[in-house]
Amino acid sequence: MAKMEKCQKIMELAKRRGFFWQSYEIYGGESGFIDYGPLGTLLKRKIEQKWVDEFVRKEGFMLIDTPVLAPSIVFEASGHTTYFTDPITTCKKCGRKWRADHLLEEQAKISGEGLSLEELDKKIKENNVHCPECKGELEPPKFFNELFKTTIGPYSENIGYGRPETAQGIFSNFKRLYELARNKLPFGVAQVGRCVRNEISPRQGPIRLRELTIMELEFFFDPENPRCDKLVEVKNEKLRILPEKLLVEGKDKPVEVTVEEALKEGYIKSEWNAYFMVKAKKFVESLGIPAEKQFFKEKLPTERAHYSTQTYDQLVELSCWGAVEVSGHAWRSNYDLKMHMVYSGEDLRVYIPYNEPKKIRKFLVKPIKKAFVESFGDEALRVMRLVNLTPENELVNSLKKNGHYDLKGDGKTYRITLNHVEVEEVYVEEKGKRFLPNVVEPSFGLDRLTYATLEYAYSEKDNRIVLRLPRNITPIEVAVFPLMTKDGLPEKAVEVYRLLIKHGFTVEYDESGSIGRRYARMDEVGTPLAITIDYQTLEDNTVTIRDRDSWKQIRVKIDNLPKTLEKYFKENVGFDDLGKL
Ligand code: GLY
Repeated sequence: MAKMEKCQKIMELAKRRGFFWQSYEIYGGESGFIDYGPLGTLLKRKIEQKWVDEFVRKEGFMLIDTPVLAPSIVFEASGHTTYFTDPITTCKKCGRKWRADHLLEEQAKISGEGLSLEELDKKIKENNVHCPECKGELEPPKFFNELFKTTIGPYSENIGYGRPETAQGIFSNFKRLYELARNKLPFGVAQVGRCVRNEISPRQGPIRLRELTIMELEFFFDPENPRCDKLVEVKNEKLRILPEKLLVEGKDKPVEVTVEEALKEGYIKSEWNAYFMVKAKKFVESLGIPAEKQFFKEKLPTERAHYSTQTYDQLVELSCWGAVEVSGHAWRSNYDLKMHMVYSGEDLRVYIPYNEPKKIRKFLVKPIKKAFVESFGDEALRVMRLVNLTPENELVNSLKKNGHYDLKGDGKTYRITLNHVEVEEVYVEEKGKRFLPNVVEPSFGLDRLTYATLEYAYSEKDNRIVLRLPRNITPIEVAVFPLMTKDGLPEKAVEVYRLLIKHGFTVEYDESGSIGRRYARMDEVGTPLAITIDYQTLEDNTVTIRDRDSWKQIRVKIDNLPKTLEKYFKENVGFDDLGKL
């Protein structure tokens, strides 16, 4: 048999032992969907809990839970109905549809991310990229919007979309959340939930899914006060990063720099983004993925999402798929809040009073409704709101200099001229400032992290699989075995099992097969400790505890078991030291 790649071994193990498999198997399977089995569900939940612990509890942030479906206006405002697209190409011969940039990457080893349709088409032709299925010629690519569309209720005109990110549930609630944060910046709001993306041709198992779980945090701060007060905690931490500055010089290897250097060099533009990137590195490390197997790559301006001012992807080396993004760190400026304000008409700005009133000279810009309606028709109201959110100096200076101002928003540019506004220069006393906060967003793909965790935990010892999962995320914490199925050993083992369940551990009882095979079954799913009840137990009430990684054993009194396991799981005491307690 040909040597199996690690990912194939993981897939085989995942299916056989109940971590995950392709959904709707009995109907031939559906690409881009996976089912988590009993062990995968537990593992995924534990990773989620760990993330919530790090990014919510320890930071004092809020966690909310909003719907998967939203009325279309939410994603019109967020820009997803316009920009959430990928290039698609159709095979002229067999009619199959493919992600054009992915084919270019696979067949010509050229990154197709962010290329225009024309550039993609040219490169596809130049490099003789063809249909992977029938080798047919490909049609020029088009954009395909990956939102899942539906109708809400029995009204065909009531269009809704499945959310492609949880973030909009946070932005659209901003007003209420700011109040819950006691009207103070900065603050963070997180959400973990299912999202749907109608991927064009997902062929990478658990890596590219049409339904996925995202764990994301939106951190709101005052753009005039962007300092991160926790920077001192991380400034000497090292990050492996590949910034735009180096990418444009043709470099393709990350450099290792401290956070302080990364900020000084301008590699990372937001201190808060840097802070969360360090947290992300450590979080991924805590799942068993070493720092040297991760790096952060900046997205080039053409590759960035429409809302982003700067984005770094956190990538992890995987066996079959190379460096894969497990989290994104975007500085979203005030894009989303601004667009929700424009679309909803709600004032989402925050107000911060000055210590003392300030006398300032400013331009008052009054939109002339009639002129807006004449120029922009149905969009007039939204364009007027956009004008109201544009810094007056910027608008007026451009009007004076060029006779017009090109207002960007909503995927279009609206040309504002002197006919649209009345401008008056005034002196006013301002008691405070009213503004839209800025946002940085660390956003993690839970499914990819779950897969990557499995891949890094995978090891083989004496031709057997040992899944070296970190002890605090293992689906099963402890196994309990009677040595034999006779002489009262099973009864005693069930007693031990019940004791540990009562103390809150996740325990599996198993009495079938030889003891060696039972240990092997538990090693294979990453259970760190296995307890065996043998004949000596009946004499002195002690049991053996066996360590998954070293296969060493220690003897412990049953009465001391809960305390011993507590030390191991909660206080992280090493196995060798457990015997000395
Ligand atoms: N919210 C991050 C993303 O859509 O990828």
